Amino acid sequence: MAGLIPQDFIDDLIARADIVEVVGKRVQLKKAGREFKACCPFHDEKSPSFTVSPGKGFYHCFGCGAHGTAIGFLMEFDHMSFVDAIESLANSMGVEVPRSESDQPARRYDELFSLMESVARHWQDCLKDSPAAVDYLKKRGIDGSTAKRYGIGFAPDGWSNVLDKFGQSDEAAERLLATGLIIRKDNGKHYDRFRDRLMFPIRDARGRTIGFGGRTLGDGEPKYLNSPETVLFHKGRELYGLYESRQALRHIDRLVIVEGYMDTVALARHGIDFAVATLGTATTSEHLNRLFRLTENAYFSFDGDRAGRKAAWRALENALPQIREGRQIRFVFLPDGEDPDSFVNANGADAFVKLLDNGLPLSEFLIQELASQVDMETIDGRARLAEMARPLVNKLPDGVYKELLIDGLASSVGLTAPKLEAMLEKGKSSAPGANAARQTVATKAAKMPISGQPSVVRRAITLVLNHPEAGRKLDTEKLASVSRPGTDLLAALIETVQQEPNITTAGLLERWRHDEKGRHLGKLAAADVPLDEDFDAAAELAECLQQLALAGRKERIDYLIEKQRLGGLDETEKSELRALH
Ligand code: UTP
Ligand code: MN
Repeated sequence: MAGLIPQDFIDDLIARADIVEVVGKRVQLKKAGREFKACCPFHDEKSPSFTVSPGKGFYHCFGCGAHGTAIGFLMEFDHMSFVDAIESLANSMGVEVPRSESDQPARRYDELFSLMESVARHWQDCLKDSPAAVDYLKKRGIDGSTAKRYGIGFAPDGWSNVLDKFGQSDEAAERLLATGLIIRKDNGKHYDRFRDRLMFPIRDARGRTIGFGGRTLGDGEPKYLNSPETVLFHKGRELYGLYESRQALRHIDRLVIVEGYMDTVALARHGIDFAVATLGTATTSEHLNRLFRLTENAYFSFDGDRAGRKAAWRALENALPQIREGRQIRFVFLPDGEDPDSFVNANGADAFVKLLDNGLPLSEFLIQELASQVDMETIDGRARLAEMARPLVNKLPDGVYKELLIDGLASSVGLTAPKLEAMLEKGKSSAPGANAARQTVATKAAKMPISGQPSVVRRAITLVLNHPEAGRKLDTEKLASVSRPGTDLLAALIETVQQEPNITTAGLLERWRHDEKGRHLGKLAAADVPLDEDFDAAAELAECLQQLALAGRKERIDYLIEKQRLGGLDETEKSELRALH
């Protein structure tokens, strides 16, 4: 029964499920900006109005109004029951559903998290007992407090240190295996994955350890050994050091993306607390989504060598669909042979920050890089540049930024902007682009019937659902005296967001799945709330609460005055009324 599956399990399942993967296995999806589109599987249509939003963990059809989470999709599409859908989703992610409190399933998320935490602690203790590892850190300029902040530890040499300490029962060994801390041999026996390595815990947004990177102290191969992909750890999603940055900084006004663990830690050691590292992978659009939720200013710092330029180019390609006015992306290339770690140790923090400030804006990097591949002296070469730019420019959303980039390109190839634009447009019409699809959806959304002006409560609920992070710092106490319908639901939503800072739109919907009050949440979650740019959801939400609080105050005054007229107030009510006035 549903009630027997713990809520925290469902929360985690929904937070970790990839809705694009779940839907994409059953319906052919096409990428359109940060969302995915398809012809709706729930009604007959010729042009796609079915949208899947990975950020919200939610799908929605503008045509027939179908909507839901990954769990909801399985229920609708595969005609599963709620519990079967959870089973199936959990199964595809390799976790077992805890059935009741008395059961001891081998792999429950909370058990896996706490195991990771214990092992991280253990390795931190081991570090203190290893002069060689401490020495190594010192040689690399890392002091004790930085090492502590990042939870750096040491896994001593040996085939079964972790196995012996944490894997005594079969279930415990299964958990070690599921988190990638041990490896199973063909003969069924196990051994420790990390041996004689300096250990960097990788934490998720809540600070829970989800994986590790381990560096040899010497020249062993590989230089860094990382946790494999597990149910907790998805490399392409995580940014090393993001949790620590958010702990250190009240407000993140910029983030610099570096390549290595040591780069992040070394920069932090020098007081640059806003550096995060991709984990030996290219910068994915999921990384960028995360970044741009926190700041408008992103800097990519790469090595000056060819590999560095190539990595920068891939980051650029992924970043193009996310460019907006107000967002700044700069590329910073270090002198050949240097990385941020060596640079900051040799030249200090100010010099590094100066490099960032002088970084190459994305548009300039794009033009430079293309120009370096053709002979700009010839007409042919310049035409080729325009040709190469076409698919890139078409990845940009329409707007001022795109115009500016086209201007820049036009002047480097010696064409007028309108002429170049015409050339770029030609390429677009041959392939039915995402833009056309977006257009239809936007018009349809605009035509959706709205029953009167949305009330303040409704507006506020829509905001929390679409931007859960906006509710994090609000004070719900003000809502206590408001009697408008829906206010208690609003307060409950905000409180949930505060208890579960990582909860997504889908997570909220699942929380209210079995609740009569949550009946309309799905529709509100699909409402057209601006997703980015200058839109400040937190400010708007605060404004809604303010309005509600005022309305609540007025209601209370009216009530007290009426009561006074009818029969009088007691002393407390009298002084309350005076205070309210
Ligand atoms: P680098 O080779 O640039 O190493 O790898 P680094 O960060 O400068 O390391 P130090 O300074 O020699 O200690 C950059 C990143 O690529 C991944 C790691 O995430 C590393 O931080 N990597 C590298 C691996 O995963 N495995 C490797 O063997 C090497
Ligand atoms: Mn390095």
